[in-house]
Amino acid sequence: MNMSLVEYERRGSVAVLTVNNPPVNAMSPGVPRGICEGIARASRDREVDAVVLVGAGRGFIAGADIRYFSLPWPEGEENFSDVIRAFEDSSKPVVAAIHGHALGGGLEVAMACHYRVVSPGTRVGQPEVKLGFPPGAGGTQRLPRLAGVAAALDMIVTGSPVTAPQAVELGIADSLIEDDFVEGACRFAEQRARSGGPHRLARDLPVNLDDPAIFDAMRGKIARRARGMRAPYACIECVEAAVNLDFDAGIAEERRIFEACVHSDESKALRHVFFAERAAGKIPGIDKSTPLREIASAGVVGAGTMGGGIAMNFANAGIPVTIVERNSEALERGMAVISRNYGASVSRGRMSEEAHDRAMALITPSIAMEDLADADVIIEAVFEEMAVKKAVFAEIDRVARPDAILTSNTSYLNIDDIAAAMPDRHGRVLGTHFFSPANVMRLLEVVRTANVSAENLATVMALARRMGKLPIVAGVCHGFIGNRMLEGYFGEASLMVEEGIAPERIDRVMFEFGMAMGPLAVMDLAGLDIGWSKRKDAGGGTAIERRGSWIANRLCEQGRFGQKTGRGYYIYEKGSRTPTPDAEIDDLMEAARHHFGLGPPDLSDAQILERCLYPLVNIGATILAEGHALRASDIDLVYINGYGFPAWRGGPMHWAGNVGLDRIHEAVCRYHRELGFPQWAPSSLLKELASSSRTFEDHDRDHRHA
Ligand code: 3HC
Ligand code: NAI
Repeated sequence: MNMSLVEYERRGSVAVLTVNNPPVNAMSPGVPRGICEGIARASRDREVDAVVLVGAGRGFIAGADIRYFSLPWPEGEENFSDVIRAFEDSSKPVVAAIHGHALGGGLEVAMACHYRVVSPGTRVGQPEVKLGFPPGAGGTQRLPRLAGVAAALDMIVTGSPVTAPQAVELGIADSLIEDDFVEGACRFAEQRARSGGPHRLARDLPVNLDDPAIFDAMRGKIARRARGMRAPYACIECVEAAVNLDFDAGIAEERRIFEACVHSDESKALRHVFFAERAAGKIPGIDKSTPLREIASAGVVGAGTMGGGIAMNFANAGIPVTIVERNSEALERGMAVISRNYGASVSRGRMSEEAHDRAMALITPSIAMEDLADADVIIEAVFEEMAVKKAVFAEIDRVARPDAILTSNTSYLNIDDIAAAMPDRHGRVLGTHFFSPANVMRLLEVVRTANVSAENLATVMALARRMGKLPIVAGVCHGFIGNRMLEGYFGEASLMVEEGIAPERIDRVMFEFGMAMGPLAVMDLAGLDIGWSKRKDAGGGTAIERRGSWIANRLCEQGRFGQKTGRGYYIYEKGSRTPTPDAEIDDLMEAARHHFGLGPPDLSDAQILERCLYPLVNIGATILAEGHALRASDIDLVYINGYGFPAWRGGPMHWAGNVGLDRIHEAVCRYHRELGFPQWAPSSLLKELASSSRTFEDHDRDHRHA
């Protein structure tokens, strides 16, 4: 037996098998064998009446080893079905003692045991859907038998775990053990062994379904969110099989559906995202030994759209925050929005009254910069103008503690320039680019300035995680990762409207691709006036740049700034966010074609898609080559979590690998010749990878950071 992966110990009449496969006890090769051997040994051991299966370290078992969905399983190695058969064949009762987590195959293993006990704080669930497949080791057949069809369906389709008390209430677990967990589990096992049984297996329980309509109801409920995806529907089919077939036939059906999903592009993409999220925290120059500063208090300057949301993040994380505005009127307005947002969470049942009061009490409004004197971190979120920001930082510099970390929420501006004005604070100035709404969006671009210290960067990354954000490191460049790429995406969408392709058609193509919203609807949401004023400040740009903004300029001249004015590329009924196509846009498209001497519109849906997405890949490659993103997978995470790119396509850089980088490079060069806009300037990295038949993932592997 492989002693290091599964340890065997006898405590009285109980054999304790401890899975010890750090960091999360995944079912890697060797673990199933260790469990099977442990069960065999326990059944031979006459002193043993029962078996307890427990996990070492942080949790029970985190499921299958996800890496092995892309690797061959070693020949001859036992697997899930061997483990499950060993439990089912065991004459001695087997108790799963679950602490921390039992996820995916971990819960499936536990459900194949005769009994389950849980410790407080444990979470159990079937998150497989988030990896693009349904549970594949009997979870879809055993969970409905233990928890009931409705609860099981919900857990399996959403992938959301339940807590220990919920697990007991649902019948997934038999008992909650408060303290001395392993001892308690052993006593429970002894007791059950003494009772003489019968030790019932989940497979032998009936499946009770009161309402057969729940399956179609679930299909309806997920229709929008699961657009284009297979796995959530596959989960429903598997649970339906539990209802319609006997146990063994249900298991066979689950296996068939699981196998069909696990090799899909959708699953490959979602597994890529899983590992991308773990890789994003690995930053050159930072490791576990990097000291972290304690953040006990914070300051935010500016209580506008972003500042208010940022302050809420601190309060939600339990960190007292002072929010400073330039006058009491703006401050009151900002605080009213914060209060309204929290109020909405309470009325939707997402927040308790107490949590609301606690959060509001942590936010101190002020109009005196001096009130930031004690803050450990200060985030600036004032107007996007360098002069204003520099003036504000001069004020902050005057009042802040010498060791305070100072960050800017700028969307585009050069933070190294801001830092340069405060030479004594160089190592403590960086960017924190939150996304709107800042209290909701998970993405945070952490902008690494030239001189920021490892300690301060690591502290901000840790702070972001404490706020529940996904922090991604970006370099100082115009628009960092996301907005820099967005310019190419928006640019092409606007150009196509000038060529006579209706906004609703472009948006439909992108929506059908899986984007949360189409680009023109997003522009209307963000406000067309922001780009307009930037263009005016920049004097209108070159002729080639003036194309692409011709219609947007006309719209802004008419006061059509998008949703906020009820009109932009679309019309919005009062109080509605639903875009309605506008016949006046047809006239503007006609005028634009005339103005630029363009022929009649002639683009297929496939070409519209290329024109929107290939610039993302091309500019992403440039950002990567410049080192402004650490890895292509970071770029994918930015687009998925900040810009509504479908996770099941893996992000633009992963998706590009499926299309073929050679094909994209060829198209980029062609569009560059035909259209010539900056977003088409071919990236040398794209060319290099295309010509060597490599993908961005290959590039990431070759440049892996510690
Ligand atoms: N397989 C392989 N590696 C895994 C893993 C798994 N199931 N779960 C986590 N890891 C790795 C991570 O990649 C990471 O590696 P790294 O340190 O090299 O980057 C390390 O373990 C630690 O992971 P986290 O950073 O996520 O640790 P946390 O403490 O934040 O979270 C966790 C722990 C809640 C267990 C979380 O890791 C998690 O949710 N894991 C995935 C659980 C899951 O999806 N299970 C289902 C797998 S599919 C399956 O079981 C199929 C079955 O139905 C047949
Ligand atoms: P906003 O206009 O809603 O808010 C800015 C606030 O700063 C105003 O309330 C203003 O009164 C205040 N302010 C200005 N000068 C000040 C001073 N000297 N002292 C104190 N307060 C002052 O702007 P918004 O949208 O919140 O943007 C803030 C920053 O965040 C900008 O840099 C912007 O580029 C960036 N950003 C904006 C996003 C968005 O979607 N709105 C997304 C990500 C970043």
